[in-house]
Amino acid sequence: MEQVIHTVLEVGLEKPVKILQITDVHLTQTDPRDSAEQQAHMDKRREVFRRESGYVPHTPNEYFEEAFALAEELGAFPVVTGDVMDVYCLGNRDEFQRIAAGKDFLFTPGSHEFAEFCRAPVPGHQERYARTRPEVEAAFPQFNFTFDSRIIGGVNVITLDNSRDWFPEEVLTGLKAEAEKGLPMILFMHDPLTDHGLLRIREPHPLTLESEEVYRISDEVLAFIDSCPLVKATFAGHWHGEALHHTPAGVPVYITPGLFKGICRLIEIR
Ligand SMILES: [Fe+2]
Repeated sequence: MEQVIHTVLEVGLEKPVKILQITDVHLTQTDPRDSAEQQAHMDKRREVFRRESGYVPHTPNEYFEEAFALAEELGAFPVVTGDVMDVYCLGNRDEFQRIAAGKDFLFTPGSHEFAEFCRAPVPGHQERYARTRPEVEAAFPQFNFTFDSRIIGGVNVITLDNSRDWFPEEVLTGLKAEAEKGLPMILFMHDPLTDHGLLRIREPHPLTLESEEVYRISDEVLAFIDSCPLVKATFAGHWHGEALHHTPAGVPVYITPGLFKGICRLIEIR
């Protein structure tokens, strides 16, 4: 690993808990079964990430394996916050399955998990997403893509899906149910809570525009996170660089660089 960012959260635990956040792996593995167009696209994308990483010595695949070995060595529970696959193709699917096999971790998706190509939404985008999403979920039955939680040493570790720039209703009902447990909650998601798409500061792309009802529920999730005193911090990826922001109520929004750069984040909760 080129860098492990160390973050300490004080929530009043008797014994500290460690989590390793892994995000934005951007695997570009292809397979002869993938279309020639997808294979050529992955060849180009591989170079994009090599350049963006400053030509780090290892491949995203190698860093992904390394990160799980590091988590084990440190006694940290791994949480993966999306964009593991740069696109959904058979090469990437099989590689993600191979590396994930037999490992215990939480996963929440990014938008790339459901894309066939990395480009701006084109007509038919919604229909393609509706077709791809169940297929990707079926390939990884060990994960709950929309909402999941795990209590680790008195901390409620929660993953929320906002891979489409809004939170689905299951996230709202899930969060409310988890809050009933009364434990400190640490939230993991792909898009940072301060992302302009999520906050609707940026005009949504007309092809991805959802109904007002969808956004109303998503806004309610944002308001819930900001008003629930049990929510101690949130962790995201998506931006590929490191940043720390805060919600209007002061909840920390930690943004972790892409693992393709050889960077992950160790979170120590005390
Ligand atoms: Fe990404």
